[in-house]
Amino acid sequence: MCGIIGYTGHREATPILLEGLRRLEYRGYDSAGLATLSGNTLHVRKKAGRLSELIRLVAEKPVSGKHGISHTRWATHGAATDYNAHPHIGGNNLVAVVHNGVIENYAHLKTQLESEGFVFRSQTDTEVIAHLIAYYYEGDLLEAVRKALPRLKGTYGLAVISPRHPGLLIGARFGSPLVVGLGEQEMFLASDPSALVGYTQRAVYLNDGQICVLTPERWEIFDRDSTPVEASIHALDWQPEDVELNGFDHYMLKEIYEQPEALENAMRGRLDETDSTAHFGGLNLSPRRLRQVDRIILTGCGTSYHAGLVGEYLFEELSRIPVEVEYASEFRYRNAPIEQNTILIAITQSGETADTLAAVREAKRKGIPTLSICNVVGSTIAREADGGVYLRAGPEIGVASTKAFTSQVLVLTLLALYFGRMRHLSATQGARIIEELRRLPDLARQTLACHEVVRNIAAKYYHVHNFLYLGRQYLYPVALEGALKMKEISYIHAEGYPAAEMKHGPIALVDENTPSVFLVPRGSVFDKVISNMEEIRARGGPILAITTPGCKEAVCRADDVIFIPEAPEYLQPILAVIPLQLLAYHVALLRGCDVDKPRNLAKSVTVE
Ligand code: AGP
Repeated sequence: MCGIIGYTGHREATPILLEGLRRLEYRGYDSAGLATLSGNTLHVRKKAGRLSELIRLVAEKPVSGKHGISHTRWATHGAATDYNAHPHIGGNNLVAVVHNGVIENYAHLKTQLESEGFVFRSQTDTEVIAHLIAYYYEGDLLEAVRKALPRLKGTYGLAVISPRHPGLLIGARFGSPLVVGLGEQEMFLASDPSALVGYTQRAVYLNDGQICVLTPERWEIFDRDSTPVEASIHALDWQPEDVELNGFDHYMLKEIYEQPEALENAMRGRLDETDSTAHFGGLNLSPRRLRQVDRIILTGCGTSYHAGLVGEYLFEELSRIPVEVEYASEFRYRNAPIEQNTILIAITQSGETADTLAAVREAKRKGIPTLSICNVVGSTIAREADGGVYLRAGPEIGVASTKAFTSQVLVLTLLALYFGRMRHLSATQGARIIEELRRLPDLARQTLACHEVVRNIAAKYYHVHNFLYLGRQYLYPVALEGALKMKEISYIHAEGYPAAEMKHGPIALVDENTPSVFLVPRGSVFDKVISNMEEIRARGGPILAITTPGCKEAVCRADDVIFIPEAPEYLQPILAVIPLQLLAYHVALLRGCDVDKPRNLAKSVTVE
């Protein structure tokens, strides 16, 4: 899950190549590099470590040229060293390649190329691509790329330049995302559109098997048998400030505070007061087809999977349709029996997660209609699913997903309302739900007022080694999400459980150094959760309670309390997760962790 950038045009390439990497650093950040061409001279600079190391190197040893490629890495083959950083050079300085993806047959190809006399300088799979292109090169770079690609088994998003062809930038995609940015006398290439914001608002998304050929004046797309493709141009509606910190210390905190507005965006134009239901423009499945649906599979990974778990409660309560929630990585290989009137809804912030994409393709192979709930317009899953709903949450750059989760849960609520109104939900019930949804953004704003309280509680617990998160019904998935947030950015071991499950084993973990975070707002299982709190208290475990005003039964049993506003039970997940996001944020900060770029992770997991 790397980030790649390409540029050919009338401006100096280096600032554009480095700024592009700064925007894409959340995709991988263990090493970085660039190559530029001035005339027929290739300049390469690469460095292990954060992008700042590469920026320092380029400042010490400047490079020039109006044409180049760059890369920020999430290592799959070979450690994060200067040698393994991209670009990789093929032949005798003949081509330079940056790559996002995994070449599964690289060892086999490497042996063959070494027998042809090619010398490898790295442990990466990518260097094989560079030498393979050089192996096929007979004066035409595009032809050499065309001949090399079919030899590769695996996934790739590639950018290729050569000192023999100043101004020519070639890109190729199979399994990893690649988007072309169309400028005036300049062209851009990037792994995702956030790197193009502020440079152009016109983008072309490559499909699998496609190659793009760019020069400052022209752009062409070819499919795998070299036929020219009439590609559609998409408008990018993100503004530069959307991808900047705007005064916040971290993207994660900015995105936590963007949640009320993101909820408004996700609802805008989708609440239909006349028919007391929700309205969607992009489902591409007729109401008649949707009315026949008698089973829903929700699938995704990580935080998106947790949103799916909340979706299960929502659909079953609001639309009375049986739901199964599947880890996409399991669903793609499980070969589950799927009845005719089933639909699959893929939940994904990035729209590029390899396992979720494979789950969509598996369902399509089985003739099952597929919908996507996605945040990135034009992303692969959004384009390959039969229909879908965009979150409109704006770019999410912090690796730990926050606003995407609450927006996903909101869109699932709208879909459950839509399916429900097709079935047993009355107009009165629909109207009540719409009224409650309209109040949600302000309730989210009120919830953010707990920030200072959470910061102080974090200072009390940031040194612990284990956290337990406990909730029931709609809040059980939120307990899982809270634990994931704490794990992924503070590196503290944390587990989420249905609160009643503790006595079946996990309660053995409880001691005075293991805080339990209880999600215990007023609701249908409030008394049950209170009894679960008693079980923990009886064993001396510290308790942090997330509850609603007036719940003295919870307050008197907790060591620390965070209040969230009252809300209908089915909307509580969206509010209750906010203090958990803030808790993880402040604990990670106090432990000196890099909140936006946690170790070993990347924002969008485009390899299996
Ligand atoms: C969540 O904070 C993580 N970044 C990760 O679990 C993420 O949710 C998962 O990789 C799925 O990503 P997607 O929503 O872009 O498909």
